[in-house]
Amino acid sequence: MKKKIAVIPGDGIGPEVMKQTLRILCFIEEKFHHEFEMEECFAGGVAIDKEGTPLPDHTLKTCENADAILLGAVGGPKWDHLEGTDRPERALLTIRKELGFFANLRPAMLFPAMKDACPLKPSLIEKGLDLMVVRELTGGIYFGEQKTFTDKAGKKSAYDTMFYHEDEIRRIVRIAFEIASKRKRKLLSVDKANVLESSRLWRKTIIQEAKNYPDICLEHMYIDNAAMQLIRDPNQFDVIVTGNMFGDILSDEASMITGSIGLLPSASLDADQKGMYEPIHGSAPDIAGQNKANPLAMILSAAMMFKNSFDLTREADMIESAVEKVLDEGYRTADIYSENTVMLTTEEMGQQVLDTMKKM
Ligand code: NAI
Ligand code: MG
Repeated sequence: MKKKIAVIPGDGIGPEVMKQTLRILCFIEEKFHHEFEMEECFAGGVAIDKEGTPLPDHTLKTCENADAILLGAVGGPKWDHLEGTDRPERALLTIRKELGFFANLRPAMLFPAMKDACPLKPSLIEKGLDLMVVRELTGGIYFGEQKTFTDKAGKKSAYDTMFYHEDEIRRIVRIAFEIASKRKRKLLSVDKANVLESSRLWRKTIIQEAKNYPDICLEHMYIDNAAMQLIRDPNQFDVIVTGNMFGDILSDEASMITGSIGLLPSASLDADQKGMYEPIHGSAPDIAGQNKANPLAMILSAAMMFKNSFDLTREADMIESAVEKVLDEGYRTADIYSENTVMLTTEEMGQQVLDTMKKM
């Protein structure tokens, strides 16, 4: 299979974790006889330094022409004084907006070897944990009309608007139904339909759409209850679909119950499954340049790319199994190190995953 991949290492630990991921991509390419045309480009702080803008036109063009995008992380203290459109994060927001990446997939899985890192009671995660939060990313309250007023007495008030068009709801819930059909055929829709009109439209629309997926069991829950249930018994869920703000909060909550920020990937997709794949962590300036960062979240982001954008399940499974095996064998980077495990550098961890794949 021939694929074009835009590679954006970014700032801080971004280039370090990307380097290990590219080694794994090269191995997959050779082993399965694919042809990956990887084009490296700048975005974020490094692009500000080199070209005076967080997202140079040629980077956006490369992303537009690619079949998928891999991104490390952007930002850092060096650029914290910048404002608005000059900031490094603007690169991500612009790519998402320009390429129409409206579906944010945030898996929260707990590797068997990492059970100790989970802050929940052991009895709750006896069978592990494997959830997928599907968050609407380009609509809702983050993009509705907003305004601040000052009254005659000089007091301020402000509003934001939670706005959803039924087509926006339809396209995100379709993606969630498709994902659910490849997993446990169970979908939870989270809203606040007892209070919010936009949530009532959300619920109505997903119920209509469910008729096209008769083999999927659809349930509904209010956001406040869902936040509670996620802590009380996370394994009652499999795929969760929700709007932008509820998804922002729930996906962070879900990732924290797995215990490590350095282990979780994410995807942002359009309707054709083209997407941008990145770890959920940031550029970690506190450990950048020290060969200490955990490359596994970035490596697992590449696995998500194979599965979602390229439909290469075998390749994705191979990466995921290798990561699981490496963790089972007790190899750890500093962020997930505990007694009786073996501490590795970023490079050594990349090598360990590669060696494990070579033996599979
Ligand atoms: P962060 O995720 O970069 O770091 C939080 C903590 O987790 C730090 O102690 C860091 O050392 C640790 N950590 C994160 N990833 C790790 C990894 N792979 N291995 C080992 N330890 C890891 O979040 P923070 O500190 O809030 O943000 C730092 C910079 O990153 C900021 O400039 C922020 O704007 C940017 N950022 C970028 C994101 C992106 O590019 N998507 C997302 C989040 C933050
Ligand atoms: Mg968040």
